[in-house]
Amino acid sequence: MDLKNYIATIPDFPQAGILFRDITPLMADGEAFAYACNELIDFARQVGAEVVVGPESRGFIFGCPVSSELKIGFVPVRKPGKLPRETVSLKYDLEYGSNELHMHADSIKKGQKVLIIDDLLATGGTVDATIKLVEAMGGEVVGCAFLIELTGLKGREALKGYNVKSLMSYE
Ligand code: PRP
Ligand code: ADE
Repeated sequence: MDLKNYIATIPDFPQAGILFRDITPLMADGEAFAYACNELIDFARQVGAEVVVGPESRGFIFGCPVSSELKIGFVPVRKPGKLPRETVSLKYDLEYGSNELHMHADSIKKGQKVLIIDDLLATGGTVDATIKLVEAMGGEVVGCAFLIELTGLKGREALKGYNVKSLMSYE
């Protein structure tokens, strides 16, 4: 299946100069959504993931079906003020703007094999911050999987030494 048929491209959203890759048509098509999730599930099996970590909010959409299918846990990475207990946190830059991410401080066990899943790899700031949080808790990042990779933003360079999978690439 060519998943690119289910991605809409919107120029100048959310600000001038950004070519926004919209995943909602893919999510709205049952066959395409299941196909994409199955690809991620295969990768999760390959890398021996013991838990899935997904950044808010689009990382939840693809991370949760993978963890449910494999009967492994899902751990959310959230924006400030959302998690009710003690957190570890990090600030980072985005393709547009900046952000701060939090995880519950007890969410990853020492030595646990972690697969990070998000919808899109742009500059790599989000996944880089997520890796740092996971590793600070003693987790082992065994893979990073994305639906879409924007190769022109060179996010993969922030992921040297990690097992990175993307289902689609755009320059
Ligand atoms: C988007 C996207 C990734 C991140 C990728 O999330 O879902 O998480 O940006 O960009 P990066 O590689 O440059 O870090 P966003 O922060 O816009 O939040 P959302 O999922 O809630 O829309
Ligand atoms: N997140 C960061 N950059 C993006 C883009 N160009 N399209 C969709 N989501 C994004």
